Amino acid sequence: MHASFFQHIEALEQRTLGVLESQGFSGLLIGSGVLHKRFRDDNYYPFRANPQFLQWVPFLSAQPDCWLLVRAGSKPKLFYYLPTDFWHLTPALPSEWWCEAFEIIAYSDAAELRSALADTANLAVTAERQPGFAQESWTLNHDRLNTELDFHRAVKSEWELHCLREANRLAVKGHIAAEGCFRAGGSEYEIHQTYLQAIAHNERDMPYDNIVALNEHAAVLHYQFQQRQAPETSQTLLLDAGANYQGYAADITRTFTAGEGVFADLVHALDMKQKQLLKAVGAGTDFVVLHRQMHTLIAEVLQAFDLVRLDPEAQLERGITSVFFPHGLGHLLGLQVHDVGGWQQDAAGTLREPPQEHPFLRLTRILEPGHVVTIEPGLYFIPSLLEPLRSNGAGSAVNWTLVDELIPYGGIRIEDNVAITAEGIENYTRDAFAAEQRPDL
Ligand code: GLY
Ligand code: MN
Ligand code: MN
Repeated sequence: MHASFFQHIEALEQRTLGVLESQGFSGLLIGSGVLHKRFRDDNYYPFRANPQFLQWVPFLSAQPDCWLLVRAGSKPKLFYYLPTDFWHLTPALPSEWWCEAFEIIAYSDAAELRSALADTANLAVTAERQPGFAQESWTLNHDRLNTELDFHRAVKSEWELHCLREANRLAVKGHIAAEGCFRAGGSEYEIHQTYLQAIAHNERDMPYDNIVALNEHAAVLHYQFQQRQAPETSQTLLLDAGANYQGYAADITRTFTAGEGVFADLVHALDMKQKQLLKAVGAGTDFVVLHRQMHTLIAEVLQAFDLVRLDPEAQLERGITSVFFPHGLGHLLGLQVHDVGGWQQDAAGTLREPPQEHPFLRLTRILEPGHVVTIEPGLYFIPSLLEPLRSNGAGSAVNWTLVDELIPYGGIRIEDNVAITAEGIENYTRDAFAAEQRPDL
């Protein structure tokens, strides 16, 4: 795969130089990021590198204060921060295989950078703030430039696809281990720890905070706590957990049930509908149309299970499916779990906002080969959304007896990561489960 990294850098360089030229900049200086102190504290928040920097140097995800200079006529220059620091380990100057792609220059203070960059007028800078060594002619976070680079980031290189595929393989191992812990009666906390251990990640490696939700917690879309105590009986585990491979994210959800019954049948039904929708996913498809199709499929499930006594069209008209499926079908995936540019229709930054009745849809683009997206329908019993429906006219079609029986099970989400190809899709998640002899997941 090493060759694909060098091709990735070459293509990124070509593109970046083109954008710089068209916008009148002599080069681009990208900061890896800075550490942030907590309020009235001398400790720092966990470091998160600038994703634009990571697209070039994904191997330095834990190093603040590094800078990358991209300019025509020379290899990208990586200014690597090597301070004298007896409190922390200063990582040695890198010398791995990928270093070939860069000219690597160690620096230990801003004065060195100022003189190294003395001949660089008119740079574009992408960083949280203008660095102390900046020249007056430099422009910080030029909107049009970043918009254009963000737009192109949606189409992944072979290298990036490799990383996303590997991230999925890792995350799937975590899901299988976590399922075992759930079946053994583990608490949310224990399931979370089992997951991390299975993939050798610590929390700061994770692309987002794990959602480890037992029973009714599965109805909280981004449930953020982990109970140390297991409930008396664990009926549902909704596990939304990813992994990180060379800076690239997996974002996978599976919903496990302890026993048989209506809820387990619902999980199976949603799984079938998710697979049915996947057949419609491919190059040229409008993600907004896919999202609407998913609502129709969910309405079919609600009708088939006698949860809602209306045909799909009538359910959609009355907004009933949005009570059970209140989030978007999916989003772009890459260096960020919700990768940039989901509403951008072109490099100039024309935005297409989601339809008014689906405000949480993060992706409104027409899919292209190289896009990697999540397909993550859900079907939940969320009391705060059900209550208003219960008391209005549309609610008369709902089988409240059955809904009330299912509220303790929380909800279901099934989330795959798929790459759009010229021929259709590659489903990284389901392929990885199948490789682990779990084609049922
Ligand atoms: N894990 C957050 C999401 O699925 O978008
Ligand atoms: Mn997601
Ligand atoms: Mn997710």
